[in-house]
Amino acid sequence: MNVRQQDDWVVIQAPAKLNLFLEILGKRSDGYHELETLMVPIDLYDTLCVQDVAGDRLELECFDARQRSGFADRVAVPSGPDNLVLRALLRIREEAGVRRGARIVLTKRIPLGAGLAGGSSNAAAALVAANLVWRLGWSRERLAELAAELGSDVPFFLGPGAAICRGRGERVARLKGLGVWHFVVAFPDVGLATAKVFGHCQVATSARAVQPLVDALRRHDVAMLGHWLHNQLQPAAEALEPAVGRLAREFARIEVWGRQMSGSGTSFFGICRSAAHARRAAALLSGRGVGSVFRARNCQ
Ligand code: C5P
Repeated sequence: MNVRQQDDWVVIQAPAKLNLFLEILGKRSDGYHELETLMVPIDLYDTLCVQDVAGDRLELECFDARQRSGFADRVAVPSGPDNLVLRALLRIREEAGVRRGARIVLTKRIPLGAGLAGGSSNAAAALVAANLVWRLGWSRERLAELAAELGSDVPFFLGPGAAICRGRGERVARLKGLGVWHFVVAFPDVGLATAKVFGHCQVATSARAVQPLVDALRRHDVAMLGHWLHNQLQPAAEALEPAVGRLAREFARIEVWGRQMSGSGTSFFGICRSAAHARRAAALLSGRGVGSVFRARNCQ
């Protein structure tokens, strides 16, 4: 997350993420699934601008920038109480006992229901922005506790770079030294609800380990990369949404080092040799009408 102050606004670039590994270890009594996942933030950003205002109103305006960047405008951006940004601001304000309002402008580029965690990233950015504009002085640890309450993926976005996340996703261990990777990402312009995909997934009978993938990434061992990528949610998503299976078949036809679905879908990504390779792969996939295609790289 990239944070800057401009006049009396806090401006945050909130990144999307890709899951290079996601194993389902068990089903918990609270309805969640115990998992192990390796996530990398990528350079596709929503922009969140927040300004402190007198009174207690939280005014949120959402703009959908996806039209301009080539995304189809199929999913409306919720600007009501369902929006995670508003929920984050309401919760932190309540916890901190603040009697101030905020003006919030959210510009969306990350597609919704895509397994790229745009909503979670927005929520993390809202907590960081609130901490600054309302001068709360909260520590990263305190923010992380509230972040975990808002969503399993939210704590990941409070820190920099890649991480292995465990528990329901809220226990974050940062990873260093993975290097820079180039991706081609396709969103089929139809999303899937996370809860629905988890509701249909199978717990792994013999869990795969994440460490071989971490080692392959660190050594830049591209021959083994595709072998160690894993997403246990992909079969469920393919069964629920035919567009995911179609993406799997289209990605199998292009030359990439490894490929799979991100998170609970529906986005699919391939790992490319270089930015130029990712650009060519994106052009190929766009030409086949698979949806919204872009290239990305992981951000440090
Ligand atoms: O935590 P979050 O609100 O993002 O999760 C959305 C839904 O995804 C949950 O309500 C749950 O159904 C499912 N989920 C799960 N196990 C996880 C994370 C999410 O079952 N580890």
